[in-house]
Amino acid sequence: MFKYSASPTRYSNMIYNRCGNSGLMLPAVSLGLWHNFGDVDDPAIYKRILCRAFDLGITHFDLANNYGPPPGSAEINFGEMFKKQFSGYRDQMIISTKAGYTMWEGPYGDWGSKKYLISSLDQSLVRMELEYVDIFYSHRPDPNTPIEETMGALDLIVRQGKALYVGLSNYNPEQTTKAVAELKRLGTPCLIHQPKYSMFERTPEKGLLDVLEKEQIGCIPFSPLAQGLLTNKYLKGIPKESRAGKPHGFLKENQITPVVLDKITRLNAIAEKRGQTLAQMALAWILKDKRITTVLIGASSINQLEDSVACLKNTTFETHELNLINDILG
Ligand SMILES: NC(=O)c1ccc[n+]([C@@H]2O[C@H](COP(=O)([O-])OP(=O)(O)OC[C@H]3O[C@@H](n4cnc5c(N)ncnc54)[C@H](OP(=O)(O)O)[C@@H]3O)[C@@H](O)[C@H]2O)c1
Repeated sequence: MFKYSASPTRYSNMIYNRCGNSGLMLPAVSLGLWHNFGDVDDPAIYKRILCRAFDLGITHFDLANNYGPPPGSAEINFGEMFKKQFSGYRDQMIISTKAGYTMWEGPYGDWGSKKYLISSLDQSLVRMELEYVDIFYSHRPDPNTPIEETMGALDLIVRQGKALYVGLSNYNPEQTTKAVAELKRLGTPCLIHQPKYSMFERTPEKGLLDVLEKEQIGCIPFSPLAQGLLTNKYLKGIPKESRAGKPHGFLKENQITPVVLDKITRLNAIAEKRGQTLAQMALAWILKDKRITTVLIGASSINQLEDSVACLKNTTFETHELNLINDILG
């Protein structure tokens, strides 16, 4: 196997933004391992994607206990790669994981109990062969567990040295406000929030981004390309090797409706006029908001990764462009 040596120019290629009012800087583009890094995927490809990402200045890699498939395999594969190629760079990397969705059978492998969160992180650390993660998330709010218990588990994890920072994902504005207050009371501030946010999913604009700004918490939107819809790849049908074309992909064929295709076609025309690919424009559109710390992308090839990172060349929009985009999005 090849021996990786990081590019000496990697830090000159990336923008780093402060995460809320914390001391932590994150790259404007971060890489997630939800798809493309499981046992169903080609190690030769994903290993090179990880190296290229780091060479492009991407220091933040986002995982969760259940990423694969099968669940857990993305952490194992990342851990193996980390040990062989990246262990000398541990202090230059921000690695996150999460627990909150179904991971193992029985009543203790899901949601937000202290029992689940603590056990799950212990398992993640074993799978990745790491001593600690940089950020640990509650992956989703649990309506049946007191927020004090879930946040208490996050606080304990930091005090145990198993994570440096904690974050919330998929919490709505009210749930976020309560969780943030509880974390503050415990003395472990919430670093970052991970919501689903893209041109096609604008719910965070209805309150969440305001809460994050007020509380000075970072924001890392996931699926900023709506899993690949906000690219030009589906304009001429569904490629076999695409997420919608693969049996285990979370994006399903029936989500690619004529209405969606019409929007993509019109957005693509605006992107071309701006001299960007649609993927670049979709990422730039998120990054134009200064409340956003970093966009959390996925990539199934080095070409995609490079294309997406190049969004940073232009993240500003003319008013007429924003108006046109709003008209299309409806
Ligand atoms: N907290 C949560 O609940 C949650 C949920 C989901 C995801 N996430 C996080 O967010 C990360 C990103 O999510 P995502 O993978 O859905 O993000 P995404 O960036 O919206 O979609 C990534 C997919 O889009 C396609 N793509 C990416 N760049 C492209 C480009 N430049 N041109 C053409 N196609 C391109 C690829 O699809 P093909 O495979 O079709 O090539 C790629 O796999 C995850 O890895 C995970 O870390 C978190």
